[in-house]
Amino acid sequence: MIAWAAGAAGQENGMPMVPLPVEARWSEGAPFQLTSATTVVCVGDAAAIREVAARATDALRLVASWTLKTGSADGGGSNIVLRLDRSLFPDLPDWQRAESYRLSVSATRVELFATTAHGLFNGVQTLAQLVSPAGTGQWQVRACDVKDYPRFQWRGLLLDPARHFLPPEYLKKFIEVMASYKYNQLQLHLTDDQGWRIEIKKYPRLTEIGSVRKESPRHGDREQGDGRVDGPFFYTQDQIRDLVAYAQARHVTLVPEIEIPGHFGAALAAYPELSCTGGPFEVQTRWGVQPDILCAGNDDAVAFAKDVLGEVCELFPSQFIHIGGDEAPRNRWKVCPKCQARMKAEGLKQEAQLQTWLNHRLEEFLASKGRRMIGWDEILEGGLTPGAVVMSWRGTRGGIAAAQAGHDVVMSPTSHCYFDNAQAQGPAEPECIGGFIPLDKVYSYEPVPAILSASQSQHILGVQGNLWGEYLWGGKDVEYFGFPRALALAEVLWSPAKSRNLASFLGRLDGQYAHLDRLRVNYRKPDAAAPSNRGTEPKAQAK
Ligand code: ACM
Ligand code: ZN
Repeated sequence: MIAWAAGAAGQENGMPMVPLPVEARWSEGAPFQLTSATTVVCVGDAAAIREVAARATDALRLVASWTLKTGSADGGGSNIVLRLDRSLFPDLPDWQRAESYRLSVSATRVELFATTAHGLFNGVQTLAQLVSPAGTGQWQVRACDVKDYPRFQWRGLLLDPARHFLPPEYLKKFIEVMASYKYNQLQLHLTDDQGWRIEIKKYPRLTEIGSVRKESPRHGDREQGDGRVDGPFFYTQDQIRDLVAYAQARHVTLVPEIEIPGHFGAALAAYPELSCTGGPFEVQTRWGVQPDILCAGNDDAVAFAKDVLGEVCELFPSQFIHIGGDEAPRNRWKVCPKCQARMKAEGLKQEAQLQTWLNHRLEEFLASKGRRMIGWDEILEGGLTPGAVVMSWRGTRGGIAAAQAGHDVVMSPTSHCYFDNAQAQGPAEPECIGGFIPLDKVYSYEPVPAILSASQSQHILGVQGNLWGEYLWGGKDVEYFGFPRALALAEVLWSPAKSRNLASFLGRLDGQYAHLDRLRVNYRKPDAAAPSNRGTEPKAQAK
């Protein structure tokens, strides 16, 4: 028996997986041969397990380029057996158990056990990474044992189709890639000043007007326009239902983000009466922060926000609904008679408290639908509403304050998680928003601040890497900026902190490029020279 892999040992043992499992070891004995007779057997008849079996055949077809049969009769043959075992990892908390699995590979069998279909799905992703060539057209899996479960429950990425639309088919590709690295949350930034991308039945002008902009900033000269109409681009409700189902089958939750009250310009172009001034407005053609936001003193505007979130809740089963909340200048509120009247009536001293008042209405509304409200860390400024979950982007201070106050937190600091920043410097690198976050810096991120107590640390649900779309013109750019940094973050999020080892990760990453090639991901291959942590502080970004 060879030693259990952990940290550098993972590399020494030649364990290829990203993220590295909690425990993994090669065992004695011949490898398991994948042949045309190999069947993926689902023990038990649950539809969710049959779905995992279908995904297993997808994953293995991608590697070994043939389609395995699926069945429910084991017959003791040389098969891949998926089995629910509710007794697995009895000491883990429920959320962690639900994603855990055990994988055992011998010459005659592959056995995968988990307490849920999600755990089986995670195990399938690991199995796919263990398949290796065994001669022309032949494939095998080396005998091994794996015990595995995630370190964090929120393992997220963000896409921004508001700035540059990403068609539904592209989102499906991205979900596939995410899932293969055990990400489980995809936040969709659906609305902003430059575009409204989700059909809302009650307010058709949101997409008729709000999904088109006259032009966009020009490549290479962002102060100038490119003179090209962008849109109409949006997801219909049918397309969203289809995407939700596609993501669910891959155990990825789509988290919708509707920006309220700032970054709201596309909605105001369609319904200017929801603003403090009455407009008129156009869908914005330049990036940045706009002064005109939703009028929190206007009952119709508050009702509008709830109506939109109501339709969003009908479409997205996500427990968490993101209300944005960032970068909302409150200057218009200072001079708006309606906003000032609301503040007086509610006894609010500062405009930041008016944002909290608004958030409270939204939080109660979402809670009435059984959902939890999450927002960017600006939602702390006027005082957090009772159940708010904070996504900490302006560093980690907001996340720390929220966790200390007993609120759940997703860390997403610009310093490590803004994958729209450059990952390398030099003339060959594409235009981007600025900043510099190399791969090793992402890999070095520790999500739990040392200042938190053990119980406060429980509030750190996880981390999200953000692919803001201003300078990502489509899927190719999303992938160039997202990969391989998303693999570094995947390991931060999944693997035990003690097994973190950059040399081991970089060694395993080399083997992952073949997988990314099979998935047709336009990743950036890191320079041959080892990346450096020196001089990597990103510049402050005005977005
Ligand atoms: C953000 O980057 N404005 C959340
Ligand atoms: Zn107002």
